[in-house]
Amino acid sequence: MSRQIIIDTDPGIDDAMAILFAFKAQALTVLGLTTVFGNVSVAQSTRNALSLVELAGVPVAVAEGAATPLQMPARSHPDFVHGKDGFGNIGWPAPRGEADSRSAAQFIVDQVRAAPGKVTLIALGPLTNLALALELDPGIAPLVEEVVMMGGTVHTTGNVSPVAEANIINDPHAADAVFGAAWPVTMIGLDVTHQVLLKAAVLERIQQANPDQGDFLAQAAQCYFNFYRGAMGIDGCFFHDAATIAYALEPSLFGCRHGAIRVATEGLAIGQTMMAPEGRQFAEPGWEDRPMVKVALEVDDVRVLSLFEQTLSGR
Ligand code: RIB
Ligand code: CA
Repeated sequence: MSRQIIIDTDPGIDDAMAILFAFKAQALTVLGLTTVFGNVSVAQSTRNALSLVELAGVPVAVAEGAATPLQMPARSHPDFVHGKDGFGNIGWPAPRGEADSRSAAQFIVDQVRAAPGKVTLIALGPLTNLALALELDPGIAPLVEEVVMMGGTVHTTGNVSPVAEANIINDPHAADAVFGAAWPVTMIGLDVTHQVLLKAAVLERIQQANPDQGDFLAQAAQCYFNFYRGAMGIDGCFFHDAATIAYALEPSLFGCRHGAIRVATEGLAIGQTMMAPEGRQFAEPGWEDRPMVKVALEVDDVRVLSLFEQTLSGR
């Protein structure tokens, strides 16, 4: 039985890897892509999501979402990582399709209400659309099968500040609301994505087996590889967004702990994801009555990369 997912996304080179991975995975049915600001503007995210749907040749709806965070001004888009177009400045042609008339939040509510207990939300960008869906219809939380989100870090150094990961710092208020809602959340953060290094050779092999999508990924990833080489001296790139798809397909590839997660919404630590481990009591207020979040801390990097390559190679 195929798992039904909605991918909330800000494509984004690693978002594109995740989305094409999900489209190719027979055990997943993608009900729609919902878009959000982040790596690029939301308008560019929507164009890119439509392009990925066309590239894969799948009949998947795209619904546009939030252009800004819930409460604070938007941060600048990281064009030095993903290029101005989010696809590594490769001059990819504009899509022909159009977005759904509904907002991302409304699309999420409609899909969850139509299939209670059966829809998983995979979030690859700032969590604004998920928070807006909760505002629109708080009753959806217990009806969602699982929220699997890429973002945050508990033990690993952040990638925007020493303590903050990009998706969380882009809308910390939304993230704190999502971690506090009555749905089961699994956090795939830097603790695991920094343990998985994707090298160019994997994309080259995918390119040979699946030239249409492989050519696109190999071209777009050049910009991403250049960033990692220049900024960190790394030969390859960290496997961020696509790790959520690996988790959705094969949760046993990840080792997880449970705890309450709070997000710092101001000050030097803004965007920090803090974990209170399950079973611990603290004198400080703010941690009581928070739901347990499943936090990935270990990962089988070899099997994750092999699942990605085999799925995208169509084997
Ligand atoms: O920190 C990694 C996340 O931020 C990924 O979702 C990537 O697309 C970037 O925006
Ligand atoms: Ca992303």
